[in-house]
Amino acid sequence: MCGIVGYVGRSAGRVNTEHKALDVVLEGLRRLEYRGYDSAGIAVVADGAISSRKKSGKLSNLIAELEAHPLPDALTGIGHTRWATHGGPTDLNAHPHLSDGGKLALIHNGIIENFAELKQELVAKGVTFLSETDTEVAAALIGDIYRNQLGGDNASGGLTRAMELACQRLEGAFTLLAVHADQPDVVVAARRNSPLVVGLGEGENFLGSDVSGFIDYTRRAVELGQDQIVTITADTVAITDFFGAPAEGKEYYVNWDPASAEKGGFPSFMEKEIHDQPDAVLQTLLGRSDVDGKLTLDELRIDTELLKSVDKIIVLACGTSAYAGQVAKYAIERWCRIPTEVELSHEFRYRDPIVDANTLIVSISQSGETMDTLMAVRYAKEQGAKTVSICNTNGSTIPRESDAVLYTHAGPEIAVASTKAFLAQIAAAYLLGLYLAQLRGNKFQGEIKDILADLGKIPAKIQQILDNADAIKKLGHDMVDAKSVLFLGRHVGFPVAMEGALKLKELAYIHAEGFAAGELKHGPIALIEEGQPVFVVVPSPRGRDSLHAKVVSNIQEVRARGAKTIVIAEEGDEAVKAYAEHVIYIPETPTLLAPLLSTVPLQIFALALASAKGYDVDQPRNLAKSVTVE
Ligand code: AGP
Repeated sequence: MCGIVGYVGRSAGRVNTEHKALDVVLEGLRRLEYRGYDSAGIAVVADGAISSRKKSGKLSNLIAELEAHPLPDALTGIGHTRWATHGGPTDLNAHPHLSDGGKLALIHNGIIENFAELKQELVAKGVTFLSETDTEVAAALIGDIYRNQLGGDNASGGLTRAMELACQRLEGAFTLLAVHADQPDVVVAARRNSPLVVGLGEGENFLGSDVSGFIDYTRRAVELGQDQIVTITADTVAITDFFGAPAEGKEYYVNWDPASAEKGGFPSFMEKEIHDQPDAVLQTLLGRSDVDGKLTLDELRIDTELLKSVDKIIVLACGTSAYAGQVAKYAIERWCRIPTEVELSHEFRYRDPIVDANTLIVSISQSGETMDTLMAVRYAKEQGAKTVSICNTNGSTIPRESDAVLYTHAGPEIAVASTKAFLAQIAAAYLLGLYLAQLRGNKFQGEIKDILADLGKIPAKIQQILDNADAIKKLGHDMVDAKSVLFLGRHVGFPVAMEGALKLKELAYIHAEGFAAGELKHGPIALIEEGQPVFVVVPSPRGRDSLHAKVVSNIQEVRARGAKTIVIAEEGDEAVKAYAEHVIYIPETPTLLAPLLSTVPLQIFALALASAKGYDVDQPRNLAKSVTVE
């Protein structure tokens, strides 16, 4: 979730005393630090040239570099904080990336899916690359078009036209900002599937990945739409589509204070991150399969023959991440036919587990620093197992000590209670399962393509639930005095029930417990008394092996004993209505993918109830975002 800032100041042919590009861009990057990053950089246009500085690590490293090697005063500049995806967090991989003999600078947020083929094409033209990034390929493409196709001539539309032609070639998700030494008073930007906002000033204009990038200077903003290009000068803002046709942005006034701007206008990071989930799943899926459904997990660097010889998978994780592993277990076993155990990391190494060279360890960790999981992974490695880390934090300890990594691209998760990372972990684990099925021949390419197509529809379905969150929020507010809430689920709904209970415990500090619905009659049903709130995650009624009827009878069992039943069910499921006090409908989706949807109402409910109690939902009592002690 990189931070992006662009600025063009007064065009009076001199640097205005009011705002210098360097100051505006650095201030914007500071405001965007919350998005998380592992390197930062800046480029300005001055004296007919591009000058840039970039450093891995925090902004303070870049500032030290700027103090040691100052940039010239400038009216035009772009800045970037990078959350590494392709290529580690190094000085070389940091943005901006240069091309056209150092006369063009580019920064980028997102993933260029077809960067490999573009890179081959450019290498064949004699272009050389310094970094491992997809961004440098985009920079080289724009530079090549500007110089060789357009003749480097402003009359031919210059940088804007070069950007248009390049965007017609790029696939994936991107927000691009470019400056060129030939056009010192212009910044050109483009967006597809990644955010970009224009800030409208007086004699100066701004660009940002969100309004935090310029909120200190203006509150007049223009949100750009899909596949749009914007060319800003100090006095003009021109928006077109990727083919040069005029287009419109949506102007609005930003009435957030800077602090809430970092939360995207939401009252908490928790709520912002729940609403980030469509993008978190999209970004995690993006760039990892081709149009034929062939998976390319290029960072999963384990010998394919070793992966084919795997005869057992052990998932190691804690808390919410362990529930993600439990959800994924059903899919991995179904798709790969490999026995898959999910172990709490802190229990694993004390039970003398059976681990050998044919065991694949899959650790799941948002932070990549959970000591319980790190120690369990180290233990498994000592036993000869191969280890893969599913992690949301680039360059953290667990992926560094693993044989391979599959990063979730959920962006930094600030709230202690995990939400978007949970869904992204499930998506990443599904990709791993499908990759193993592809490698070992358990699934035809067409089957994998169909499952990926179903996964690709999930972000929009999550958004559909979020768009109808008010009724769920009201339920949370109405149940503010609840002392205990039970959650039932079956099959993949069982770990969802436990995750729903954990969210409520973490946020509202009340007793909550998740059960396998079939387990109720073996004891827990004794807990049911008049008015006891019970959430039930109901599977789809479709499909011959549906557990729908069994779960409906579980609802009847608790209802008959006075429970207040709140049911999460698939749109169109009328059968549950007779036994539910409330029904929360979620869009239809294949059973194995349903947790990516059924979890969302439980997150919203827990947040609403905790908010009604007036609790700090971002920093709940007694909890830490990353538990770095055993
Ligand atoms: C989840 O809401 C909690 N914050 C906690 O259970 C967390 O999932 C667990 O501590 C594991 O953290 P990790 O994913 O960073 O390893």
